[in-house]
Amino acid sequence: MRQSSLVVVANRLPLDDNAAPDGACEWRRSPGGLASALHAILEQTPATWVGWGGGVGVAPVLPDIGTLRLRPVSLSEDELRGYYEGFANSTLWPLYHDAVETPVFDRGWWETYRSVNRRFAEAAAEVAEPGAAVWVQDYHLQLVPQLLRELRPDLLIGFFMHVPFPPPELFMQLPRRVELVRGMLGADLVGFQREQAAHNLAQLAVKLLGAEGADDKILVGGRVVRTGAFPVSIDVAEMESLSARPYVRNQARQLRHDLGAHKKVLLSVDRLDYTKGIEHRLTAYSELLRDGRVKVRDMVMVQVAVPSRERVESYRGLRDRIEREVGRINGEYGRVGEPAIHYLNQPFDRADLAALYQTADVMVVTPLRDGMNLVAKEFVAARADDTGALVLSEFAGAAAELQDAFLVNPHDVDGLKETLLQALDAEPADLARRMSAMRAHITSHDIHAWARAYLTSLDQTGRLARHLPRQRKTLARS
Ligand code: ADP
Ligand code: F6P
Repeated sequence: MRQSSLVVVANRLPLDDNAAPDGACEWRRSPGGLASALHAILEQTPATWVGWGGGVGVAPVLPDIGTLRLRPVSLSEDELRGYYEGFANSTLWPLYHDAVETPVFDRGWWETYRSVNRRFAEAAAEVAEPGAAVWVQDYHLQLVPQLLRELRPDLLIGFFMHVPFPPPELFMQLPRRVELVRGMLGADLVGFQREQAAHNLAQLAVKLLGAEGADDKILVGGRVVRTGAFPVSIDVAEMESLSARPYVRNQARQLRHDLGAHKKVLLSVDRLDYTKGIEHRLTAYSELLRDGRVKVRDMVMVQVAVPSRERVESYRGLRDRIEREVGRINGEYGRVGEPAIHYLNQPFDRADLAALYQTADVMVVTPLRDGMNLVAKEFVAARADDTGALVLSEFAGAAAELQDAFLVNPHDVDGLKETLLQALDAEPADLARRMSAMRAHITSHDIHAWARAYLTSLDQTGRLARHLPRQRKTLARS
């Protein structure tokens, strides 16, 4: 395979495994923040994306997508279980999300995680041209920066963590904590969604590796590793132009009509994940109905919950509980032809999502913990007319930026109920002021600004590194 000067390494390729049945390949975005974010910037960039194409066994050779080359990494059934479903999504994912679900520490998964990380590192080493920049993504691949540095010391290596990076009190539970921190610190620049995460990493590096740490750099093994916050975003222009399309506007009008033109619409769009706070939200809605504070004749909720990680036990259990609760709420409060909740457990294309965003009076985004939450930003981008309210969890990374949302603690169900009512009753002028402030923010902080900020910083790190003999001695002078 030809080599590239920019290589992105992420667990998933942005295609699912049945997207190329006849060898023809179309850009079919997997639901999830990472693919949404990177799609926007890589579509027109000469680069190679190294990732798993979904499925098991030998990965098919995939054709280029525009200027983007795809380098699939294959996984066996055992590797899928130990690396992706096991260590990544049953150990790291719950631990990094405040342990809202109990992390599983299974000693057998570690070796698989390490060997799969090595395979990703080898694939990246193979497709990176001399001196290339390699940008490694997320918690699945935390060991790749160090493994890649050993294979290819000439490369400029970036790492970005899309999910929260926990405080030492939680991280220290990990049996393989030293290796994981060392793995990340193989990068030249480690980026996070929030400043606090960089601070957490510095504390851990000091504690576990005897490094010297400050919030924006860590001196370890004679190298300086830069750290920083780079809040990820969306392709605002894409969502705006989608939302302005006549097809999408008609679709939105039709949806409003089908839902009941006079009704207020509460909308939520999530991957079906226990971090998203879906159960807390259903409890709040159900109690509002029970207490007669909202009525099915003038209110309806739409919950889109796209299937995710369905072979992992905790996700299966969550789906069962949610479906039971939706059934109970509809059974108790719905009327013939008038459900209290429409529950859609399916993927949608971007245009249909844009239409859905336009139907909502109140968009309810209430994760218990979330690295960013791009759905909140997509909703704001889709509302060019400055209508609609956003109820947003304080525990989503997006809350630091979207301060004009109706911010809420989703663990506090009474507070959530009051906030929903406040958003439903807000004056149009208040909503317009809030929405226009949030739109202004995301317009100047879109996905292109994110990529520029990160890659510029990585590039500067590389320039600094060329003067390393002078830089290396102490942290203060670097
Ligand atoms: P996460 O990264 O945890 O999945 P985000 O909110 O950051 O959460 O990103 C979710 C992404 O997945 C968004 O870009 C959203 O548009 C997309 N998405 C969510 N639900 C669906 C769905 N039903 N069909 C297609 N895409 C979806
Ligand atoms: O950032 C969270 C994340 O794991 C991303 O890597 C991905 O975009 C999303 O969640 C979806 O998860 P999965 O790839 O496991 O379906």
